[in-house]
Amino acid sequence: MQTTTQGAAAPLSGAGIVWLKLSVLYLILGVAIGMAMGASHNFTLRPVHTHVNLLGWTTLALAGLIYSVFPQAGASRLAKAHFWLLNLALPVMLIGLTLLVTGNTAMGPVLAVAESVAALGVLAFAANLFLNLKR
Ligand code: HEM
Repeated sequence: MQTTTQGAAAPLSGAGIVWLKLSVLYLILGVAIGMAMGASHNFTLRPVHTHVNLLGWTTLALAGLIYSVFPQAGASRLAKAHFWLLNLALPVMLIGLTLLVTGNTAMGPVLAVAESVAALGVLAFAANLFLNLKR
């Protein structure tokens, strides 16, 4: 029997694998916080749950998929900047937010710095897509 790859989708590159593996860890954490809130009827951590799920799971998974489909963007220096800025800032941001909503108001400045670094990561992502997405 003759095998052919004609018409088959091109395999995705590995550029997004680390992003996807990290994203699913955030999904597990986000779901766990959601379940704990539902079970306890204590919704203090709602903004943490939201950011773990949307900035952790969803944003990282989308970056992973995009870098898998466009490997030249995934291998760029901007992709590296995006990765380190966002992935170093995000845990600090989530821990800072957790402490802030549980009453530690001194976390405000820590949160502001972590958010700014995460935002720089997002800008690197945007620049990367504009400069390096090619067919
Ligand atoms: C088993 C999985 C999940 C559980 C048990 C769960 C549980 C919850 C709970 C208990 C709330 C608070 C509801 C309230 O205050 O009345 C909530 C809010 C929310 N969740 Fe989830 N969630 C889950 C997954 C997700 C995922 C995967 C996402 C996004 C990708 C998400 C995004 C949100 C958003 C945007 C809010 C509203 C936050 C706000 O109003 O400030 N959740 N969730």
